Amino acid sequence: MLYNMKDLLKVANEHQFAVPAFNISSFDMLKSIMEEVENLNAPVILEIHPDEIEYLGNDFVSIVRSYALNSKVPVVIHLDHGATLYDVTRAIRNGYTSVMIDASTKSYEDNIEITKKVVEYAHYVGVSVEAELGTIGNNGSAEGGTNEIIYTDPDQAEHFVKETNIDTLAVAIGTSHGLYPKGKQPKLNIDLLKEIHSRLSIPIVLHGGSGNPDNEVQESILHGVGKVNLSSDLKSVFFEEVRQTLIDNKNMYEPNEVYPKANSKLKEVVKYKMNLLNTVGKSSLYI
Ligand code: 13P
Repeated sequence: MLYNMKDLLKVANEHQFAVPAFNISSFDMLKSIMEEVENLNAPVILEIHPDEIEYLGNDFVSIVRSYALNSKVPVVIHLDHGATLYDVTRAIRNGYTSVMIDASTKSYEDNIEITKKVVEYAHYVGVSVEAELGTIGNNGSAEGGTNEIIYTDPDQAEHFVKETNIDTLAVAIGTSHGLYPKGKQPKLNIDLLKEIHSRLSIPIVLHGGSGNPDNEVQESILHGVGKVNLSSDLKSVFFEEVRQTLIDNKNMYEPNEVYPKANSKLKEVVKYKMNLLNTVGKSSLYI
């Protein structure tokens, strides 16, 4: 079942679970994630960053759509961190059902202006829109962010959502993209999240979902978070396994021999995150 983000997350917020948004960058990742979410009867968000679609090519999205349309679980295909109108229109043309326009490093006024424009186009064709206020930190990830986190201002958040009519808001409450280096311990500002949540009636998105304390991520779901972005926790495990397989088997070169162990490891991470976010079995709520 193919869903847009608005319809998917309305149910999540009502029933206090979150849906993970996994960055998919290869066919093996797509296939493994879909097999596991079918097993778990769990809804999922498959997100693709502009760098990832540049690598994968537009035709990859027909395969993603085919998986979504033939699946028994709700699936959203989402553009992660669209930076330009080109990124957004390319995604809509490719058949995504949700787009992010990230103008968070621009001035507040410019962020509003570009987001409004995206909302106008996307809503014509039933595509949901996510925007970002404040800035996520960055641990050297391809998804970007800033060295210093700028925490989301609740007054701005309330005003921004009213002005732009977006469907979901990504907030900066202490997370960073990428794997945290040793000694850098993230801490989510739950009080700030509560304040933002009290001002908004749309689902909140947590970026930089990898490497945060599980209990804090779970607590965030009680205060409006309906979508948790996860990339590094999956890719690092997947490629560590590929690396090890190739080290252990110097002459191996057939993909159907190289990837299966990495695919299994990836499925374990998917299962872990689905349990953490209380998403297992929640597909039944959509039928
Ligand atoms: P992580 O790599 O920290 O999981 O962040 C992913 C993300 O937020 C994509 O937008």
